[in-house]
Amino acid sequence: MRVLVLGGTGSIGRPVVRELVRWGHVVVALARSDVSANKLAGLGALPISGDIATPDRWLPALPTLDGVIHAAAAFSTNDETVERSLLRALLPFLSATAQNAKFIYTGGCWLFGPTGETVATEDTPFAPLSALAWGVSHSRLVLDTPGIHPIVIHPAMVYEPCGGVFARLHTDAIERDAVRVVGSESVRWPLVHSEDLASLYRLALEGSAPGDSYIGAAIEGLPVGQIARSFARRFGTRRPDPEIVSEDTIAAELGEWARGYGLDQRQSGDKARRHLGWEPKHLDPESEIASI
Ligand SMILES: NC(=O)c1ccc[n+]([C@@H]2O[C@H](COP(=O)([O-])OP(=O)(O)OC[C@H]3O[C@@H](n4cnc5c(N)ncnc54)[C@H](OP(=O)(O)O)[C@@H]3O)[C@@H](O)[C@H]2O)c1
Repeated sequence: MRVLVLGGTGSIGRPVVRELVRWGHVVVALARSDVSANKLAGLGALPISGDIATPDRWLPALPTLDGVIHAAAAFSTNDETVERSLLRALLPFLSATAQNAKFIYTGGCWLFGPTGETVATEDTPFAPLSALAWGVSHSRLVLDTPGIHPIVIHPAMVYEPCGGVFARLHTDAIERDAVRVVGSESVRWPLVHSEDLASLYRLALEGSAPGDSYIGAAIEGLPVGQIARSFARRFGTRRPDPEIVSEDTIAAELGEWARGYGLDQRQSGDKARRHLGWEPKHLDPESEIASI
């Protein structure tokens, strides 16, 4: 398939590009800078220069596509506006220029809000953080678009041993000699390794039914205190127990969206396993941290 990836240098997009190239797909990827274009070319993609904020400038340069994967975000206060105008330009363009092209929209685990003991599935009603509530309406807009084959993936918290949602904990352990967690040690994070998530995107692209949604959670929910303690042990921090910071503190530091780090969630990736044959391989993040 010939697939356009938006956000192909990001935590989600980079492994997705690598996975698609490895499986023989042709990847065209949007790059808003020369640095990003070089990274994408290095992954085996064909970079197209452009910014998600100005789709009319690069849509005409696109070849005919079999699919689009949207995993771009700037995490700024105008993300909602930028994405709405992107979708309003890109979705009709795709319906008009391609035959039922696949369109994978990236939602997110934080759209489900705190789940407590309930394990959220694709049927669980959304209860998004207010800063991200637009993700719900945008995923509906994608699912309701005629003439395309829409799919939504809600990734769990995406990690690599020193990267993704673990990057901050890793940096804290090295630079602050104490690892900070938001809210409480018992807050649970549903998790997925970036390579496992990339295989889910590929499987969904190749095999899902139109209108399907999938939660990309390989691990239902791991207490963040356990993760923080693994980093503290691995790097021998002065303080073995995590330093608790409030959601207000993290929101002031990173933006309102970062309140999500304090959500206690459990989520199931069973539907992707059953329907798509998804088989996540990374199921023990603590031992991955120990072997950094
Ligand atoms: N990471 C997670 O744990 C997670 C979990 C669930 C959902 N999500 C959602 O997944 C999406 C991607 O997250 P991520 O963690 O992969 O983000 P990320 O690592 O920050 O990557 C963002 C990507 O978007 C690109 N980008 C940003 N602004 C752009 C613009 N104006 N024009 C073109 N490209 C632009 C960046 O490109 P350059 O910087 O190279 O230019 C980069 O490739 C977000 O919507 C996020 O909410 C993430």
